[in-house]
Amino acid sequence: MSDQTALSFANKTAPADGVAVVFAEEGPKLSAAAQDLDNKSKGLLSRAVAITGFKGKKEQTVDLVAPQGLKFARAVLVGLDKTSSYGAEDWLNLGGAVRGLLSGKEAPAAHIYLETAGGDVAPADVASFALGMLLRGYKFKKYKTKARKKDGAAGEADDRSLKKIVIHCGDPRAAGQAFAPARAIADGVTLARDLVNEPANVLGPAEFAARAKELTKLGVQVEVLGLKALQKLGMNALLAVGQGSEKPSHVAIMQWKGAGVRGGDPIVIVGKGVTFDAGGISLKPAAGMEDMKGDMAGAACVVGLMHELAERKAKVNAVGIIGLVENMPSGSAMRPGDVVTAMSGQTIEVLNTDAEGRMVLADCLWYAQERFKPKAVINLATLTGAVMVALGKEHAGLFSNNDELSSQLIAAGNVTGEKLWRLPLGPKYDKMIDSKVADMKNTGGKWGGSISAAQFLQRFIKEGTPWAHLDIAGTAMSSVDSDINRSWGSGFGVRLLDRLIVDQYERR
Ligand code: BES
Ligand code: MN
Ligand code: ZN
Repeated sequence: MSDQTALSFANKTAPADGVAVVFAEEGPKLSAAAQDLDNKSKGLLSRAVAITGFKGKKEQTVDLVAPQGLKFARAVLVGLDKTSSYGAEDWLNLGGAVRGLLSGKEAPAAHIYLETAGGDVAPADVASFALGMLLRGYKFKKYKTKARKKDGAAGEADDRSLKKIVIHCGDPRAAGQAFAPARAIADGVTLARDLVNEPANVLGPAEFAARAKELTKLGVQVEVLGLKALQKLGMNALLAVGQGSEKPSHVAIMQWKGAGVRGGDPIVIVGKGVTFDAGGISLKPAAGMEDMKGDMAGAACVVGLMHELAERKAKVNAVGIIGLVENMPSGSAMRPGDVVTAMSGQTIEVLNTDAEGRMVLADCLWYAQERFKPKAVINLATLTGAVMVALGKEHAGLFSNNDELSSQLIAAGNVTGEKLWRLPLGPKYDKMIDSKVADMKNTGGKWGGSISAAQFLQRFIKEGTPWAHLDIAGTAMSSVDSDINRSWGSGFGVRLLDRLIVDQYERR
């Protein structure tokens, strides 16, 4: 759920109470607002600085409670290091960290004097800071029936008392304008996180498709294909994965035509939407199986991104396609050894029913190219455990047939902090999935599991289609705590692809 605290921008002298947050750079060199608090409190702040040994370093803070001479209940001084080397990601993370500091402070209002020792912060950076605050404020508390007060093992305090956050800055109007697209990003990431965090008993393929359909309200054209339509299209690889489940498979197609006819062919984003991956007949072990409710994080990112593009009325033609299935063991489930014919006409020998994501994507990727003439196709999938063996949870795996698209994606990753690391493709790897009985098998053997999975996907990419596959198994779910995220689902990919689209695909 999004941060329920109202956020606004104001000038530096606007009325304020509750918690004040001020900043200092390395030294410490206090900002003007911090200096002002110090003067009004007759040197209380500088005494506290001296006593605590605060040097203005990152993560250092001084927390004054009921400070004499101030109208604030609390004043927090936050260290910045040196802002001269700050990029967008630093402002974003700072906003997240400050939002974290406010958690559990039990005040109805917080006033942040966002100012460096050198003076004003640029409006774009103020907007990044504010986005960081919103992202950190996210909490999935839908199923919590009691409020939480204090920080504990299970997460941060509820902040029910914190009603508003005001960011005081040099040019609040400009900051507000710069913040408009950031608000859309926050809403897109929030939606993606909500979908990933939702348990699989509540969010099956049909419910997920219904959530996609809700984008209609924002002007996105949404089609939902059910069993009949998928059978007619010949999406037998996707259908084979879902045939063991009580919950029928769906595919949703979302079109945002923000650049009109002049914008030309769309960029197409495809997402793996396995709402629960039990492994099928090749059943997964019990330990950690609950995490497989998040095996739809690729699809969640696509829906979050389409929401974001529509909300900020992006001047781009973009299509999102998500394959929604549940992979379960049952009497009707596909078996190891089965051969299925994908929509492309190629045959697949199923060696392991747990290698299901690639089968879902195979048909969605083919459909994407048959129906649209994409400028580029990018797919996101929690595809392999092996990508975490290779890259940990710091980078998502990037595979591509196109060097230019790869470097654009990597650049977008570096700016947003949603980082990518390119891994190889090639004929020798491709050979790993040759089958004795069919055109290919769905697993490639012991080594390089993320690569053979990517090779499988590439067999469904036509010559000449620029394509990239992002393996987000390590970055989208079961997330490591960060300044901007404390929830299980991270919403990975929304900010990354927004950046790519702004930089490369939007009409100016
Ligand atoms: N959804 C899993 C991959 C996964 C694992 C995502 C852990 C997130 C966390 C995927 O469908 C899968 O089961 N992959 C297998 C492939 C194998 C059977 C070839 C894997 O990675 O073990
Ligand atoms: Mn699987
Ligand atoms: Zn899976």
